[in-house]
Amino acid sequence: MKVAIIGLGSVGRGVAEMIAKKDLGIRVTGLADSKSGCIDPAGIDLFRVLEKKKKSGCCGDKNISALDVIRKAPYDALIDVTPTNAMTGEPGLGYVMQAIKKKKHIVTSNKGPIALAYKELRALAEKNGVALRYEATVGGAIPIFHTLGHGLAGNEILAVFGVLNGTCNYILTRMADEGLTYEQALLEAREMGYAEADPSYDVEGIDAAIKLVILANTIWGNGVKLDDVDRTGINLLTPDAMRLAEEEDCTVRLIAEAIPKKGFLRVAPRIIEKSNPLVVDGTLNAITIETDMAKEITLIGRGAGSIETASAILGDLLFIRDRYVERS
Ligand SMILES: NC(=O)c1ccc[n+]([C@@H]2O[C@H](COP(=O)([O-])OP(=O)(O)OC[C@H]3O[C@@H](n4cnc5c(N)ncnc54)[C@H](OP(=O)(O)O)[C@@H]3O)[C@@H](O)[C@H]2O)c1
Repeated sequence: MKVAIIGLGSVGRGVAEMIAKKDLGIRVTGLADSKSGCIDPAGIDLFRVLEKKKKSGCCGDKNISALDVIRKAPYDALIDVTPTNAMTGEPGLGYVMQAIKKKKHIVTSNKGPIALAYKELRALAEKNGVALRYEATVGGAIPIFHTLGHGLAGNEILAVFGVLNGTCNYILTRMADEGLTYEQALLEAREMGYAEADPSYDVEGIDAAIKLVILANTIWGNGVKLDDVDRTGINLLTPDAMRLAEEEDCTVRLIAEAIPKKGFLRVAPRIIEKSNPLVVDGTLNAITIETDMAKEITLIGRGAGSIETASAILGDLLFIRDRYVERS
């Protein structure tokens, strides 16, 4: 199977490294970052490119763009690991559309295109007879879409509850465990590399809401948008609120929940019993699915990280290889 990778940041590097190290029958024939690209139908030497990227900041030739790779490289599946932009979906949205129109399968970790244009992309993929896979967009390494699409295929999904943002979960865990204020816990999260310099995307619940939209559209196909989510962040939480929860043997977590029968899409800090499986510590993610037959199932795992996210991407790629692509 031949693939092209667009983006060689944290996730792209993890994917390239794992493809290079594991004997999966996957050959990378095109690769691009924001400044350069390379194409080699015989297969790119990934260790050499990763070394070059580390030393020079570029993965290839500055005269070759990501669009050149998408248009000219020979590949079966495009891996889009470019940055998420929740307002425009770009640059991933344009790249993914170009590739689908060329009848290429898509694997993406980029939440922007899937949250903004799920219906359009799904219809375009169906029209062109290609797969659109995005396991890594929600819950990092957690195989939530494989579980929903295959293991739970005969079930009606009644509701979904999730701890979908590791930064918030880390802050809440530290506030509860150490009695830190929100500001102290955020500072610590920044020092640990878990929070961005501008943490608003995480702490205001936007990231969790985007993931909830992707989950809801996948499960119920109801075309919901980010604006449909009733959203409250964790930035106004006080140590007093945490203490009150503690007195009831409860704690606070940022819970994303979707209950379609009640017309309910919400991201908000919630007081929950400590025995609830959604009470995971640190940067972990957790997702509870309520179904008619299997009842409740909770998946817990690492919501981010270079290799952890690459795990989800490889799962999608191998799914496509086995279903659609002859081994080459
Ligand atoms: N990091 C995680 O743990 C994680 C987990 C789940 C999902 N995700 C999602 O996965 C995606 C990638 O995340 P990341 O952490 O790897 O991001 P990142 O480290 O910022 O890397 C982004 C890569 O995309 C490239 N890029 C930026 N603009 C581009 C453009 N216009 N054309 C082509 N390439 C472009 C960058 O090029 P340069 O190298 O030249 O700057 C960089 O190589 C994001 O959408 C993120 O939300 C990340």
